Amino acid sequence: MAKAKVFVAREIPREVEEFLAEHCDCTVWRGEEKLTYDTILDKVQDVEGLLMGLIRVDENFLNHAPKLKVISNFTVGYNNFDIEAMKRRGVIGTNTAGALDDTVADLIFGLIIGAARRIVELDKYVKAGRWEKGQDEIFFGKDVSGSSLGIIGMGRIGYEVAKRARLGFNMEVYYHNRNRRLELEESLGVVYKDMDELLKTSDFVVVMTPLNESTYHLIGEREFSLMKEDSIFINASRGKVVDQEALIKALENRKIQAAGLDVYEREPIPKDSPLLKLDNVITLPHIGAATQRTRDRMFMVAAKNLVQALKGEVPDNLVPEFR
Ligand code: GLV
Repeated sequence: MAKAKVFVAREIPREVEEFLAEHCDCTVWRGEEKLTYDTILDKVQDVEGLLMGLIRVDENFLNHAPKLKVISNFTVGYNNFDIEAMKRRGVIGTNTAGALDDTVADLIFGLIIGAARRIVELDKYVKAGRWEKGQDEIFFGKDVSGSSLGIIGMGRIGYEVAKRARLGFNMEVYYHNRNRRLELEESLGVVYKDMDELLKTSDFVVVMTPLNESTYHLIGEREFSLMKEDSIFINASRGKVVDQEALIKALENRKIQAAGLDVYEREPIPKDSPLLKLDNVITLPHIGAATQRTRDRMFMVAAKNLVQALKGEVPDNLVPEFR
């Protein structure tokens, strides 16, 4: 039987390409420029499978790909999928859940500690030659150990953050989630709170929900106004879960103390964004899963999902909406 045609929208590790080639008739995009919605459309006409990042998939996209059966994202997020349009066309979607949990949770802790102890701000201070006196209370930060941490969205990454917080930093951990996680309450001692209560009582707030219609701008002016004035806000999920203008105002007016961000409403963040002028924000370029080992693993997981789907099996990481 002829192998199914697949298109891979960027270069991938050699082992992953070899694995795909065993099972599929695979074309890998090796062009200099990164493919976008507009530039990928003429490359998908005759493919049954697609391996790609967060390129938007809508009705029009699907009309350009009449043979398509599966889209395998090499990301954990799948907010690029128009789920209803895909369902209508019988196209399924997969992600890389599980392949990056530790790596993202590590970064979130980097942001927590970095923002609490003002590591980036004070590094700049020293490098600018401004350190003239020894120890000074102007360098004081906020304790992480023993503080309280509120996690909004207790999925796999949220769990890894909670584990680090409980076991490594002796923090009180509160969480808010669509479903209560009684097993985690028992095993880790995390405490369920409704959203407002969590915001009012947490020293650190980490938002970790996926982006969808119900989480768009989940955190806005009202939510920031409920948070403690010395609280620290962390977002490494998706920028659009937060009303960024409201966040900027909260930071400028010291409604909250600081933020650690890996994601933004627009990425790359516009160079004139007021966020870039604030000392009390750490701004990272969406590097949550960006380590070599994890990236390689994500590509392999994505390739396996694609092959499973094309063989007619249920892929390991079929996204929940298609189950
Ligand atoms: C990164 O943001 C991902 O969704 O994997």
